[in-house]
Amino acid sequence: MSEGYYNSKKTDDICDDVCGQQGTRAALSMSRLRCILRGFDFKTYIFLFIVIPVGILGLYLHGQKITYFLRPLWESPQKPFHEIPHYYHENVSMESLCKLHGWGIRESPRRVFDAVLFNNEVDMLTIRWKEMYPYVTQYVLLESNSTFTGIVKPLLFANNRDRFKFVESRLTYGVIGGRFKRDENPFVEEAYQRVALDQLLRIGGIEDDDLLIMSDVDEIPSAHTINLLRWCDNIPSVLHLQMRNYLYSFEFFLDNKSWRASIHRYQTGKTRYAHYRQADLLFSDSGWHCSFCFRHISEFIFKMKAYSHNDRVRFPHYLNPDRIQDVICKGDDLFDMLPEEYTFKEIIGKMGSIPHSYSAVHLPAYLLNNADEYRFLLPGNCRRESG
Ligand SMILES: *[C@@H]1O[C@H](CO)[C@@H](O)[C@H](O)[C@H]1NC(C)=O
Ligand SMILES: *[C@@H]1O[C@H](CO)[C@@H](O)[C@H](O)[C@H]1NC(C)=O
Ligand SMILES: *[C@@H]1O[C@H](CO)[C@@H](O)[C@H](O)[C@H]1NC(C)=O
Repeated sequence: MSEGYYNSKKTDDICDDVCGQQGTRAALSMSRLRCILRGFDFKTYIFLFIVIPVGILGLYLHGQKITYFLRPLWESPQKPFHEIPHYYHENVSMESLCKLHGWGIRESPRRVFDAVLFNNEVDMLTIRWKEMYPYVTQYVLLESNSTFTGIVKPLLFANNRDRFKFVESRLTYGVIGGRFKRDENPFVEEAYQRVALDQLLRIGGIEDDDLLIMSDVDEIPSAHTINLLRWCDNIPSVLHLQMRNYLYSFEFFLDNKSWRASIHRYQTGKTRYAHYRQADLLFSDSGWHCSFCFRHISEFIFKMKAYSHNDRVRFPHYLNPDRIQDVICKGDDLFDMLPEEYTFKEIIGKMGSIPHSYSAVHLPAYLLNNADEYRFLLPGNCRRESG
């Protein structure tokens, strides 16, 4: 018998003998079943009762990781950008800087409009607006009482408006009511809010050839980049801005691959507010993109729930404050996902925690001038305030 476990031919033979015997119908079918079960060898049982259940559990827990790991097979990277060199030094004259880029200098600078859709990034908004303050003509901010995923949210800008008194004379502020459509793709609500932002820009008084910055609140163009582009003539009509990517704070530098922010020479009837690829030109080293750079753990939880790709919170324990604090300090992924890359080499290269960076060189000036207030964004301060 013991041999039978490993030799299915022999098992079949034994069964033929048993099953060949006559008997009542019920007895016959019972013994048939027994024969079939005995017909499976030991390996088959392991497969049926261990490998398959473990496999299904694994797929349930890590399915998204597996599909992400296989991304290079099902998705190819976008067409590469044409990256434009960026020259800057505080001691080089604007005329020389424009010339280095192949541009001329204007007699007076262009007007600059900075337009954002606001969600809950109160601290990032402060740093952003302070960074660009000398060069921005009009700040345009729209907020909704709905997240892109259709969840009701408080009007956090309105509630914190007293913290933004410094822009009051240059602010065009708008509120738009959410549509609260159930089971709709979040990108529809996002597109709806961006169209409203186009209208708000016109209310703010934007005109042809004004510079318009289209970016999320946490994509902060550096002040000198904006100053250069407003002073130089013949700059391209649409430029994407390459930014240094950070996660949680400026302690975790990820890569230089942020490209969604863009700057436009406004053309009435043609320029539309968007946050996807609109041109091939990418202006090197133009600022900072700090994702999930929040002061309070509760803000992380809010953003995780409001995220456009809300399928990412697969398990309730992802929202546990202790886990989130732990993930932040380790530079791990909040959603336990793999890096979004397009080659196996890059995925494997970026797997695991983001290394700590101890450089706080070339960061927004306002951040360093107010380091006590923004400690949590600087290296060595990953602990967040609860509440
Ligand atoms: C910048 O220019 C000033 C005045 O011309 C000079 O004193 C200073 O050394 C220069 N700094 C650098 C870093 O070149
Ligand atoms: C959202 O805002 C709109 C317009 O301000 C308002 O009519 C609507 O009642 C608000 N909805 C909720 C759920 O707060
Ligand atoms: C990112 O860009 C900066 C400035 O151009 C450069 O010093 C740094 O080495 C780059 N880092 C990576 C990882 O590409």
